[in-house]
Amino acid sequence: MNPSKTAFITGAAHGQGRATAIALAKEGINIVAFDIAKPLSYPAYSFGSEDELDTLKKECERLGVSCITCKGDVRKDADIVAAVGKAMSGFGRIDILFNNAGICAYGLAHELPEEEWDSMLDINLKGAWMVAKRIIPIMMEQKSGVIINNSSIAGLRGMNRLCHYTASKWGLTGLTKAWAIELAHYNIRSVSIHPTGVNTPMNDGLAAMEGATPQEIAERSAGNLINVPWIEAEDVANAVVFLSSDKARFVTGSQFVLDAGLLTR
Ligand SMILES: NC(=O)c1ccc[n+]([C@@H]2O[C@H](COP(=O)([O-])OP(=O)(O)OC[C@H]3O[C@@H](n4cnc5c(N)ncnc54)[C@H](O)[C@@H]3O)[C@@H](O)[C@H]2O)c1
Repeated sequence: MNPSKTAFITGAAHGQGRATAIALAKEGINIVAFDIAKPLSYPAYSFGSEDELDTLKKECERLGVSCITCKGDVRKDADIVAAVGKAMSGFGRIDILFNNAGICAYGLAHELPEEEWDSMLDINLKGAWMVAKRIIPIMMEQKSGVIINNSSIAGLRGMNRLCHYTASKWGLTGLTKAWAIELAHYNIRSVSIHPTGVNTPMNDGLAAMEGATPQEIAERSAGNLINVPWIEAEDVANAVVFLSSDKARFVTGSQFVLDAGLLTR
């Protein structure tokens, strides 16, 4: 158990963020669950909700740890500062940052409205930097910490009708490496993870927007070697538990691929 550790998770209300919060809570780690918890006009699928944040808090408490929930947008510095302040007054430290909040939607490069490009890059890439900017000084002071960026297989290859998503996810791969160099001296690690399709509300939302089944959406991304349409949010959570633990103490600057073999094709 890790009674004094704290994890700050963005996009924690549902999907991979929620599964990771629960998995880390099972390890005895206190949770700060940050989520926009309201719909956006783009993409037009279901986002996390305040109810989901409330039930996550109860679930963490049932597992014997504390959970602070924060409604906020990774694009808004005031929301981030408020949440980091709550985390520090509640727990006094932040050991793990899981930069997980993200959106996805399809569109051809030459047809994309500028606002869609900006939303994708602002949430998926700039948002991760905005949150880390406020947490890195705390980790530097502690002389310990780990940042895990939820990229995608799209952060290691090209993808059709996803140029803005792919650019944002490659950006996270670069951020991960730059932070590893800047922060190693402070005993802070930085790792990116690269899941294939994951069975979450995002995948369901994309399917509804595309008039396809969730299975068709998952399989669109080239096909896993292992014969499954997608992996589960708990598979991602297990990887984050390992990468954020002392068992991964020398893993930094690298890309952890959870792709059921897809990139090997
Ligand atoms: N689902 C997949 O197939 C898949 C595969 C690889 C990587 N990813 C990446 O994993 C991460 C998590 O995806 P998921 O599948 O759990 O998605 P999801 O849509 O199911 O959950 C994302 C969560 O992030 C929150 N969020 C969105 N924008 C936010 C913002 N601006 N500020 C704060 N919170 C915000 C949402 O409310 C939601 O709770 C994303 O970065 C995604 O790009 C997803």
